[in-house]
Amino acid sequence: MNKTESRKDQHVKVAIEKNVSSDYNYWDDIKLVHNALPEIQKKDIDLSTKLFNKKIGAPIIIASMTGGYSKAKKINENLAVAAEKFKLGMGVGSQRAAIEKNDLKETYSVINNYDIPLRFANIGASQLVIWGIEKTLQNAQKMIDMINADVFIVCLNFLQEAVMPEGESNARGVYDAIKKLTEDLNIPVIVKESGAGISYSVAKKLSKTKISGIDVGGLGGTSFSAIEHYRSQMINDKLHERGGKTFWNWGIPTPTSILNVGDATNWKIPIIATGGIRNGLDVAKSLTLGADAAGIARTLLEPAISGKTHRLV
Ligand SMILES: Cc1cc2nc3c(=O)[nH]c(=O)nc-3n(C[C@H](O)[C@H](O)[C@H](O)COP(=O)(O)O)c2cc1C
Repeated sequence: MNKTESRKDQHVKVAIEKNVSSDYNYWDDIKLVHNALPEIQKKDIDLSTKLFNKKIGAPIIIASMTGGYSKAKKINENLAVAAEKFKLGMGVGSQRAAIEKNDLKETYSVINNYDIPLRFANIGASQLVIWGIEKTLQNAQKMIDMINADVFIVCLNFLQEAVMPEGESNARGVYDAIKKLTEDLNIPVIVKESGAGISYSVAKKLSKTKISGIDVGGLGGTSFSAIEHYRSQMINDKLHERGGKTFWNWGIPTPTSILNVGDATNWKIPIIATGGIRNGLDVAKSLTLGADAAGIARTLLEPAISGKTHRLV
């Protein structure tokens, strides 16, 4: 591993070069009932839907992944090309790097060159504690402006922070910070897990805030413990290498998390199903369970890296 590479750069590299999926994909447990008499003309099927008051071409979101180092600009641009063509929602990765270093802004704001119907800003939850509430509110507005975001995501990633060599694992005060963001920002605020899922009790607690949606970010796809296992291995950090291995398959499966979150929130706020979605059939399964849309991350990463940047119209 090259010492000059940023952490986000290493995450992408490891996610591409190694098998970082959980050992089991829980979408395989779900079988939809076949309808032998559908009485519909295939070409009349309209996949478009409304999410956070925006019309999107299909209930699919390109999940938050990257930004903050030079090569990420092309990845985000290629993802933006797809988001524009298929009118999908799109998130960028944690925008902390651009708050700390102004010249990294364009690795995120490149998506402004594309007509994307629903854009998600993103910050890791531990950063809210580090900044404190006043600075968080100021920086949140900067992140929103940076990509003209329609929705602000707080990413709950404490498992990753705990197994990561340089992790920031102070979670004290995060709930209050989220509550304040939901009250003060003038766009919807949602929370998103990044691979370990949201439980019934966490969703119940969050439902007491003005939260506008939950991305369950469940177990079954990319495992950040796996990514951190490999990153630790590369720098010969035995402790975190072992920690990443131990928690590789930790979490609430995405399908289970959808049902738990739906029950806890009385299905009143949008639920996004991210974690292990590989294709349209997995998306359909997530909708059947009650999700409003599904998020796809790693499956889109490789094409976004190798793809040629051009408008596909
Ligand atoms: C390389 C990489 C970087 C990621 N960075 C972020 C991030 O900055 N913020 C975030 O909320 N989620 C991040 N994620 C998590 C994804 O949004 C998603 O929740 C997770 O990968 C599970 O989806 P998948 O199984 O389709 O990959 C990242 C995922 C990958 C693969």
